[in-house]
Amino acid sequence: MIVVPVALGDRSYEVLVGPGVRSSLASVIPERSRRVAIVTQPELPVAVDPGREHRVFLMGQGEEAKSLATVEQLCREFSRWGLTRADTVVALGGGLVTDTAGFAAAVYHRGVAVVHVPTTLLAQIDAAVGGKTGVNLPEGKNLVGAFWQPHAVLCDTEVLATLPEREYRSGLGELAKYHFLGGGRLDELPLDERVASCVRIKAEVVGSDEREGGRRAVLNYGHTLAHALETAGHYDLRHGEAVAIGLVYAAELARALDRIDDERVAEHRRVVSAYGLPSMLPPGVDLDELVELMARDKKAVSGLTFVLDGPRGVEPVTGIDRPVLDRAFEAIRERREEPA
Ligand code: GLY
Repeated sequence: MIVVPVALGDRSYEVLVGPGVRSSLASVIPERSRRVAIVTQPELPVAVDPGREHRVFLMGQGEEAKSLATVEQLCREFSRWGLTRADTVVALGGGLVTDTAGFAAAVYHRGVAVVHVPTTLLAQIDAAVGGKTGVNLPEGKNLVGAFWQPHAVLCDTEVLATLPEREYRSGLGELAKYHFLGGGRLDELPLDERVASCVRIKAEVVGSDEREGGRRAVLNYGHTLAHALETAGHYDLRHGEAVAIGLVYAAELARALDRIDDERVAEHRRVVSAYGLPSMLPPGVDLDELVELMARDKKAVSGLTFVLDGPRGVEPVTGIDRPVLDRAFEAIRERREEPA
Protein backbone atom coordinates (compact mmCIF):
# COMPACT_ATOMS: atom_id res chain seq x y z
CA MET A 1 0.00 0.00 0.00
CA ILE A 2 1.27 3.48 -0.89
CA VAL A 3 0.26 6.38 1.37
CA VAL A 4 0.16 9.85 -0.17
CA PRO A 5 -0.37 12.70 2.29
CA VAL A 6 -2.36 15.78 1.28
CA ALA A 7 -0.96 18.57 3.47
CA LEU A 8 -3.68 21.11 4.25
CA GLY A 9 -3.12 22.03 7.89
CA ASP A 10 -6.00 20.85 10.05
CA ARG A 11 -7.75 19.53 6.93
CA SER A 12 -4.85 17.25 5.97
CA TYR A 13 -5.63 13.67 5.01
CA GLU A 14 -4.13 10.58 3.46
CA VAL A 15 -4.78 8.92 0.15
CA LEU A 16 -4.20 5.17 0.35
CA VAL A 17 -3.33 3.55 -2.97
CA GLY A 18 -2.99 -0.16 -3.77
CA PRO A 19 -4.80 -3.41 -4.43
CA GLY A 20 -7.42 -4.15 -1.74
CA VAL A 21 -7.15 -0.84 0.18
CA ARG A 22 -10.94 -0.56 0.35
CA SER A 23 -10.73 -3.06 3.22
CA SER A 24 -9.17 -0.23 5.29
CA LEU A 25 -12.43 1.75 5.21
CA ALA A 26 -13.51 1.03 8.81
CA SER A 27 -10.15 2.27 10.13
CA VAL A 28 -10.29 5.66 8.34
CA ILE A 29 -13.82 6.66 9.37
CA PRO A 30 -13.82 9.16 12.25
CA GLU A 31 -14.32 7.40 15.58
CA ARG A 32 -17.19 9.67 16.55
CA SER A 33 -19.29 8.45 13.60
CA ARG A 34 -21.97 5.99 14.64
CA ARG A 35 -23.55 5.83 11.21
CA VAL A 36 -22.26 5.80 7.67
CA ALA A 37 -24.27 6.75 4.59
CA ILE A 38 -22.81 5.00 1.54
CA VAL A 39 -23.69 6.85 -1.64
CA THR A 40 -23.25 4.77 -4.77
CA GLN A 41 -24.91 3.74 -8.02
CA PRO A 42 -26.90 0.62 -8.89
CA GLU A 43 -24.97 -2.30 -10.32
CA LEU A 44 -21.55 -1.16 -9.14
CA PRO A 45 -19.65 -4.44 -8.66
CA VAL A 46 -17.78 -3.20 -5.57
CA ALA A 47 -18.89 -3.40 -1.95
CA VAL A 48 -17.37 -1.83 1.16
CA ASP A 49 -17.74 -2.42 4.87
CA PRO A 50 -17.50 0.69 7.06
CA GLY A 51 -17.56 -1.44 10.23
CA ARG A 52 -20.54 0.31 11.84
CA GLU A 53 -24.22 0.87 11.18
CA HIS A 54 -24.62 1.85 7.55
CA ARG A 55 -27.15 2.26 4.80
CA VAL A 56 -26.75 2.46 1.03
CA PHE A 57 -28.21 5.45 -0.85
CA LEU A 58 -28.40 5.09 -4.61
CA MET A 59 -28.09 7.91 -7.10
CA GLY A 60 -28.78 7.74 -10.85
CA GLN A 61 -26.38 7.14 -13.72
CA GLY A 62 -25.16 9.70 -16.23
CA GLU A 63 -24.34 13.42 -16.06
CA GLU A 64 -28.05 14.31 -15.53
CA ALA A 65 -27.84 12.61 -12.13
CA LYS A 66 -25.09 15.02 -11.10
CA SER A 67 -27.63 17.66 -10.20
CA LEU A 68 -29.01 19.79 -7.41
CA ALA A 69 -32.10 17.53 -7.50
CA THR A 70 -29.91 14.53 -6.58
CA VAL A 71 -28.22 16.50 -3.78
CA GLU A 72 -31.65 17.44 -2.39
CA GLN A 73 -32.83 13.86 -2.64
CA LEU A 74 -29.71 12.52 -0.86
CA CYS A 75 -29.91 15.13 1.91
CA ARG A 76 -33.60 14.40 2.46
CA GLU A 77 -32.87 10.68 2.68
CA PHE A 78 -29.96 11.30 5.09
CA SER A 79 -32.29 13.39 7.23
CA ARG A 80 -35.08 10.80 7.25
CA TRP A 81 -32.53 8.17 8.33
CA GLY A 82 -31.25 10.45 11.08
CA LEU A 83 -27.68 11.06 9.87
CA THR A 84 -26.06 13.56 12.24
CA ARG A 85 -23.18 15.99 11.88
CA ALA A 86 -20.94 13.50 13.70
CA ASP A 87 -21.62 10.79 11.10
CA THR A 88 -19.87 10.12 7.79
CA VAL A 89 -20.78 9.90 4.13
CA VAL A 90 -18.85 7.42 2.00
CA ALA A 91 -18.83 8.10 -1.74
CA LEU A 92 -18.32 4.82 -3.58
CA GLY A 93 -18.08 5.15 -7.36
CA GLY A 94 -16.66 7.27 -10.14
CA GLY A 95 -16.21 11.03 -10.26
CA LEU A 96 -19.91 11.54 -10.74
CA VAL A 97 -20.55 9.94 -7.34
CA THR A 98 -17.61 11.52 -5.49
CA ASP A 99 -18.48 15.01 -6.85
CA THR A 100 -22.19 14.72 -6.02
CA ALA A 101 -21.94 12.88 -2.70
CA GLY A 102 -19.03 15.14 -1.71
CA PHE A 103 -21.21 18.19 -2.33
CA ALA A 104 -24.13 16.64 -0.42
CA ALA A 105 -21.69 16.01 2.48
CA ALA A 106 -20.43 19.61 2.23
CA VAL A 107 -23.91 21.10 2.64
CA TYR A 108 -25.76 18.55 4.79
CA HIS A 109 -25.92 19.99 8.32
CA ARG A 110 -23.41 22.56 7.03
CA GLY A 111 -20.87 19.81 6.50
CA VAL A 112 -20.29 16.18 7.51
CA ALA A 113 -17.17 14.08 6.99
CA VAL A 114 -16.82 12.35 3.64
CA VAL A 115 -14.54 9.45 2.70
CA HIS A 116 -14.09 8.82 -0.99
CA VAL A 117 -13.66 5.32 -2.39
CA PRO A 118 -13.18 6.12 -6.08
CA THR A 119 -13.73 3.13 -8.35
CA THR A 120 -12.62 4.57 -11.69
CA LEU A 121 -9.12 5.53 -12.80
CA LEU A 122 -10.36 9.04 -13.52
CA ALA A 123 -11.76 9.52 -10.03
CA GLN A 124 -8.69 7.97 -8.35
CA ILE A 125 -6.20 10.30 -10.02
CA ASP A 126 -8.33 13.42 -10.10
CA ALA A 127 -11.93 13.85 -8.96
CA ALA A 128 -11.70 12.25 -5.52
CA VAL A 129 -8.54 14.07 -4.43
CA GLY A 130 -8.35 17.77 -3.63
CA GLY A 131 -11.78 18.60 -2.25
CA LYS A 132 -13.59 19.90 -5.30
CA THR A 133 -17.22 18.86 -5.10
CA GLY A 134 -20.19 19.99 -7.11
CA VAL A 135 -22.94 19.39 -9.62
CA ASN A 136 -23.94 20.54 -13.09
CA LEU A 137 -26.49 23.11 -14.17
CA PRO A 138 -28.20 22.99 -17.57
CA GLU A 139 -25.93 25.97 -18.39
CA GLY A 140 -22.71 24.05 -17.80
CA LYS A 141 -20.77 21.42 -15.95
CA ASN A 142 -19.70 21.84 -12.31
CA LEU A 143 -21.16 25.34 -12.02
CA VAL A 144 -22.37 24.83 -8.44
CA GLY A 145 -20.16 23.33 -5.76
CA ALA A 146 -17.95 23.71 -2.74
CA PHE A 147 -14.42 22.97 -1.64
CA TRP A 148 -14.90 20.17 0.87
CA GLN A 149 -11.85 18.10 1.67
CA PRO A 150 -12.43 14.40 2.30
CA HIS A 151 -11.42 12.79 5.57
CA ALA A 152 -9.52 10.10 3.59
CA VAL A 153 -9.42 8.66 0.08
CA LEU A 154 -9.04 4.95 -0.70
CA CYS A 155 -7.79 4.31 -4.24
CA ASP A 156 -8.21 0.56 -4.58
CA THR A 157 -6.38 -0.36 -7.78
CA GLU A 158 -7.91 -3.86 -7.71
CA VAL A 159 -11.32 -2.47 -8.65
CA LEU A 160 -9.94 -0.87 -11.82
CA ALA A 161 -9.85 -4.33 -13.42
CA THR A 162 -13.68 -4.38 -13.31
CA LEU A 163 -13.98 -1.24 -15.47
CA PRO A 164 -15.35 -1.43 -18.98
CA GLU A 165 -12.56 -0.83 -21.53
CA ARG A 166 -13.81 2.60 -22.64
CA GLU A 167 -14.22 3.81 -19.06
CA TYR A 168 -10.63 2.80 -18.28
CA ARG A 169 -9.33 4.46 -21.44
CA SER A 170 -11.20 7.61 -20.47
CA GLY A 171 -9.18 7.69 -17.24
CA LEU A 172 -6.01 7.49 -19.30
CA GLY A 173 -6.89 10.94 -20.73
CA GLU A 174 -6.55 12.41 -17.25
CA LEU A 175 -3.40 10.37 -16.72
CA ALA A 176 -1.92 11.81 -19.95
CA LYS A 177 -2.34 15.28 -18.40
CA TYR A 178 0.05 14.41 -15.56
CA HIS A 179 2.84 13.56 -18.03
CA PHE A 180 3.05 17.32 -18.65
CA LEU A 181 2.69 18.37 -15.01
CA GLY A 182 5.98 16.79 -13.98
CA GLY A 183 4.93 13.12 -14.14
CA GLY A 184 7.26 12.17 -17.00
CA ARG A 185 7.11 8.56 -18.27
CA LEU A 186 4.17 7.45 -16.16
CA ASP A 187 3.33 4.75 -18.69
CA GLU A 188 6.45 2.85 -17.58
CA LEU A 189 5.28 2.46 -13.94
CA PRO A 190 3.21 -0.38 -12.43
CA LEU A 191 -0.44 0.60 -11.98
CA ASP A 192 -0.42 1.41 -8.24
CA GLU A 193 2.73 3.55 -8.55
CA ARG A 194 1.27 5.25 -11.59
CA VAL A 195 -1.89 6.15 -9.68
CA ALA A 196 0.16 7.21 -6.65
CA SER A 197 2.41 9.42 -8.82
CA CYS A 198 -0.62 11.28 -10.19
CA VAL A 199 -2.09 11.62 -6.71
CA ARG A 200 1.27 12.93 -5.44
CA ILE A 201 1.37 15.62 -8.15
CA LYS A 202 -2.22 16.57 -7.45
CA ALA A 203 -1.65 16.59 -3.67
CA GLU A 204 1.35 18.87 -4.05
CA VAL A 205 -0.55 21.34 -6.25
CA VAL A 206 -3.64 21.30 -4.01
CA GLY A 207 -1.43 21.71 -0.93
CA SER A 208 0.02 24.89 -2.42
CA ASP A 209 -3.26 26.37 -3.70
CA GLU A 210 -6.31 24.67 -2.26
CA ARG A 211 -8.90 27.15 -3.55
CA GLU A 212 -7.47 27.75 -6.98
CA GLY A 213 -6.20 31.26 -6.40
CA GLY A 214 -3.62 30.55 -9.08
CA ARG A 215 -1.45 27.46 -9.38
CA ARG A 216 -4.22 24.87 -9.00
CA ALA A 217 -5.50 25.94 -12.40
CA VAL A 218 -2.66 23.87 -13.93
CA LEU A 219 -4.74 20.81 -13.07
CA ASN A 220 -7.15 22.13 -15.66
CA TYR A 221 -4.59 21.44 -18.40
CA GLY A 222 -6.48 20.27 -21.48
CA HIS A 223 -9.86 20.91 -19.85
CA THR A 224 -11.02 24.20 -21.40
CA LEU A 225 -11.75 22.69 -24.79
CA ALA A 226 -12.69 19.38 -23.15
CA HIS A 227 -15.46 21.00 -21.09
CA ALA A 228 -16.75 22.84 -24.16
CA LEU A 229 -16.90 19.58 -26.14
CA GLU A 230 -18.71 17.91 -23.27
CA THR A 231 -21.12 20.79 -22.63
CA ALA A 232 -22.00 20.98 -26.33
CA GLY A 233 -23.28 17.50 -25.63
CA HIS A 234 -23.69 16.21 -29.16
CA TYR A 235 -20.29 14.58 -29.49
CA ASP A 236 -19.89 10.99 -28.35
CA LEU A 237 -16.91 11.65 -26.08
CA ARG A 238 -16.05 10.46 -22.58
CA HIS A 239 -14.40 13.01 -20.28
CA GLY A 240 -10.88 11.60 -20.72
CA GLU A 241 -11.30 11.42 -24.48
CA ALA A 242 -12.32 15.08 -24.51
CA VAL A 243 -9.32 15.91 -22.28
CA ALA A 244 -7.02 14.08 -24.71
CA ILE A 245 -8.24 16.26 -27.59
CA GLY A 246 -7.98 19.28 -25.27
CA LEU A 247 -4.34 18.45 -24.44
CA VAL A 248 -3.36 18.31 -28.10
CA TYR A 249 -5.32 21.52 -28.74
CA ALA A 250 -3.53 23.23 -25.83
CA ALA A 251 -0.19 22.11 -27.28
CA GLU A 252 -1.12 23.50 -30.70
CA LEU A 253 -2.22 26.77 -29.08
CA ALA A 254 1.07 27.01 -27.18
CA ARG A 255 2.88 26.33 -30.47
CA ALA A 256 0.85 29.04 -32.24
CA LEU A 257 1.93 31.44 -29.49
CA ASP A 258 5.59 30.34 -29.81
CA ARG A 259 5.59 29.07 -26.24
CA ILE A 260 6.72 25.54 -27.23
CA ASP A 261 8.35 23.93 -30.26
CA ASP A 262 7.17 21.26 -32.70
CA GLU A 263 8.92 18.53 -30.74
CA ARG A 264 6.91 19.31 -27.61
CA VAL A 265 3.68 19.26 -29.64
CA ALA A 266 4.73 15.88 -31.03
CA GLU A 267 5.31 14.67 -27.44
CA HIS A 268 1.67 15.56 -26.59
CA ARG A 269 0.42 13.70 -29.65
CA ARG A 270 2.64 10.71 -28.85
CA VAL A 271 1.41 10.39 -25.24
CA VAL A 272 -2.24 10.74 -26.24
CA SER A 273 -1.99 8.20 -29.03
CA ALA A 274 0.05 5.76 -26.87
CA TYR A 275 -2.99 5.62 -24.57
CA GLY A 276 -5.27 4.93 -27.57
CA LEU A 277 -7.04 8.28 -27.17
CA PRO A 278 -8.32 10.65 -29.85
CA SER A 279 -6.37 13.79 -30.77
CA MET A 280 -8.64 15.24 -33.46
CA LEU A 281 -11.91 17.17 -33.23
CA PRO A 282 -15.05 15.13 -33.89
CA PRO A 283 -16.31 15.47 -37.48
CA GLY A 284 -18.76 18.31 -38.16
CA VAL A 285 -17.69 20.27 -35.09
CA ASP A 286 -19.18 23.77 -34.67
CA LEU A 287 -16.17 25.98 -33.81
CA ASP A 288 -18.27 29.10 -33.00
CA GLU A 289 -20.23 27.09 -30.47
CA LEU A 290 -17.03 25.73 -28.89
CA VAL A 291 -15.52 29.22 -28.60
CA GLU A 292 -18.71 30.54 -26.98
CA LEU A 293 -18.74 27.66 -24.50
CA MET A 294 -15.04 28.12 -23.70
CA ALA A 295 -15.68 31.78 -22.95
CA ARG A 296 -18.36 30.71 -20.47
CA ASP A 297 -16.00 28.30 -18.67
CA LYS A 298 -16.04 29.26 -15.01
CA LYS A 299 -12.26 29.58 -15.03
CA ALA A 300 -12.47 32.32 -17.66
CA VAL A 301 -12.06 35.42 -15.51
CA SER A 302 -11.15 37.93 -18.21
CA GLY A 303 -11.49 36.87 -21.83
CA LEU A 304 -10.44 33.43 -22.94
CA THR A 305 -8.15 31.72 -20.47
CA PHE A 306 -6.18 28.59 -21.26
CA VAL A 307 -3.70 26.59 -19.31
CA LEU A 308 -0.72 26.30 -21.63
CA ASP A 309 2.70 24.72 -21.67
CA GLY A 310 5.69 27.03 -22.05
CA PRO A 311 9.24 27.79 -20.98
CA ARG A 312 8.20 28.03 -17.30
CA GLY A 313 6.06 24.86 -17.53
CA VAL A 314 2.28 24.72 -17.59
CA GLU A 315 0.54 27.94 -16.49
CA PRO A 316 -2.67 29.93 -17.13
CA VAL A 317 -2.56 32.34 -20.08
CA THR A 318 -5.26 34.94 -20.63
CA GLY A 319 -6.57 37.03 -23.50
CA ILE A 320 -6.09 34.62 -26.42
CA ASP A 321 -7.49 35.96 -29.71
CA ARG A 322 -9.81 34.14 -32.07
CA PRO A 323 -7.31 33.93 -34.98
CA VAL A 324 -4.88 32.06 -32.69
CA LEU A 325 -7.69 29.75 -31.54
CA ASP A 326 -8.57 29.08 -35.17
CA ARG A 327 -4.98 28.32 -36.13
CA ALA A 328 -4.82 25.68 -33.42
CA PHE A 329 -8.26 24.31 -34.40
CA GLU A 330 -6.99 23.89 -37.94
CA ALA A 331 -4.19 21.63 -36.62
CA ILE A 332 -6.64 19.24 -34.93
CA ARG A 333 -9.29 19.05 -37.66
CA GLU A 334 -9.81 15.88 -39.64
CA ARG A 335 -9.06 16.66 -43.26
CA ARG A 336 -11.39 15.05 -45.74
CA GLU A 337 -9.69 13.77 -48.90
CA GLU A 338 -10.99 15.83 -51.80
CA PRO A 339 -12.18 13.63 -54.71
CA ALA A 340 -9.68 13.81 -57.61
N1 GLY B 1 -9.78 18.62 -11.42
C1 GLY B 1 -9.05 19.80 -11.22
C2 GLY B 1 -8.87 20.17 -9.78
O1 GLY B 1 -9.17 19.37 -8.91
O2 GLY B 1 -8.46 21.26 -9.48
